Amino acid sequence: MQHRDTETDRCCRMLLGDVFPNFEADSTFGQMKLHDFLGDSWGVLFSHPGDFTPVCTIELGRAAQLSPEFSKRNVKLMALSVDSLQEHHDWSKDIMAYNNTEPGSQFPFPIIADDRRELVEKLGMLDPEEKDRNGMPLSARCVFVIGPDKKLKLSILYPATTGRNFDEILRVIDSLQLTAHNRVATPVDWRPGNSVMVPPRIPETEAATLFPAGIYTKDLPSGKK
Ligand code: BEZ
Repeated sequence: MQHRDTETDRCCRMLLGDVFPNFEADSTFGQMKLHDFLGDSWGVLFSHPGDFTPVCTIELGRAAQLSPEFSKRNVKLMALSVDSLQEHHDWSKDIMAYNNTEPGSQFPFPIIADDRRELVEKLGMLDPEEKDRNGMPLSARCVFVIGPDKKLKLSILYPATTGRNFDEILRVIDSLQLTAHNRVATPVDWRPGNSVMVPPRIPETEAATLFPAGIYTKDLPSGKK
């Protein structure tokens, strides 16, 4: 993990392969400790700029609709913003109503209350362009995918003004889970069921044994196929 920890710049950016900090936080599911919450599951920790705002409401609504898809893949979702626990509880009712969910049903994943801004600052999840009424930067739309080994597998950082695509987040999880267990890479715009690619470090002779169903190669001017 790369540490920059001066008085003016207190961020500790996560790099691929870093063990995610086992932070403790208050959430709508109670006090949580990241590694215990994850157990043997994968995790997606994603931040949003603020409760009761339109893009965030629709984004968390979409994540809630897709939560069975994340569960099917053994992935636990966690949202986070710098709002209070009470605001998260109140707002999650709005999100459920926006989704036309049956009244009284529980919001399907925890929303972390980082109202002391400890996690957003530590994990570099702030958008300096978007400020709250007090001039403090809002949280950006950050996505961290964490593996069952608690290591960071993927991160994406969107500014507050650009909503995410949760279908894309599911797509990359499918790729991450496939490539964690198989010596393959997934090409551009890949979807489950499409062809995969042989990583360049596997020699052609070994690939022929690894993939007896056959490999397609194309001759190119460099001669490298
Ligand atoms: C929104 O969620 O609608 C939003 C939040 C911050 C900046 C822009 C949009």
